[in-house]
Amino acid sequence: TQKPVVILGVFVADTAYRAARAPRMGETILGSDFKLGPGGKGSNQAVAAGRLGADVTFITRLGRDPFADMARATWKEADVKAAVIETPESYTGAAYIFVEETTGNNAIIVCPGAASLISIADIDANADLIRSSGVFVTQLEQPIEAATHALEIARAAGATTILNPAPAARLPERIFGLADYLTPNETETEELTGVKVETVEDARRAADRLLAMGVGTVVVTLGENGALLHSAGQSEHIPAFPAGPVVETTGAGDAFNGGLAAALSLGASPPEAVRFACAVAGISVTKPGTAPSMPTLAEVEAMLRKKG
Ligand code: RIB
Ligand code: NA
Repeated sequence: TQKPVVILGVFVADTAYRAARAPRMGETILGSDFKLGPGGKGSNQAVAAGRLGADVTFITRLGRDPFADMARATWKEADVKAAVIETPESYTGAAYIFVEETTGNNAIIVCPGAASLISIADIDANADLIRSSGVFVTQLEQPIEAATHALEIARAAGATTILNPAPAARLPERIFGLADYLTPNETETEELTGVKVETVEDARRAADRLLAMGVGTVVVTLGENGALLHSAGQSEHIPAFPAGPVVETTGAGDAFNGGLAAALSLGASPPEAVRFACAVAGISVTKPGTAPSMPTLAEVEAMLRKKG
């Protein structure tokens, strides 16, 4: 039995520039490659879950412009249903992504545009949809009050809630108690707890603090070291799935969160769901782009079989 997944978040067009290094202020340098593609954390997570066969609906705001058309085409291709509030007075967001040639590492500026206008009233207008979800997911690219309100509605209706606290931000105390799952990466974990995460043990100490703040289950994503699944009754380090040479890590966190949501919606246990999410992320980093690099269910299952 498959439960509906509802995701609140942001779509932006990713404009990715590859260069040897980032330009200094006042300087112009030549890059070696450019790509335009669909991005935005929430939308990427929805695309990941959709490709994996989950029943997904994505809530957001879009402008009325070519990037909005890109958003709709992206969701259609990934089987993602959309609850869009049209916002002609603003623009569909865009992200500047600088990708360093030698390492594939990135630095990003996100302008969410129309999605930064997502309000409490928008959430109320979608309350029935949110209540109908089995798994509800959000992040921090749209206003935090909207995310908090949506989590409250989802929680009250008995949905499993996932808060991906990205990009890193200070959060109101009450949001932690609304998260069945909190999925920070190392940087976000440090921002939220003050604990610098370099080892699995560090992640465990930080995760204990997050549990004390009210989170149900903490999943710290650790890049090439996989993830730590940590709750009151259970703490398990799940290794990453190296699927091949790393091409681009942008969007790996989204692959993970989309994978986690999809697996939970299909009834997986927490360790199974985290393992599945690690496999989804592991495949996504071997392909360029964010949303376009999300794997299909068949790819993930093949990978899980191969690595036992
Ligand atoms: O998590 C990756 C995403 O963050 C990119 O697609 C970019 O749009 C930024 O929002
Ligand atoms: Na990728």
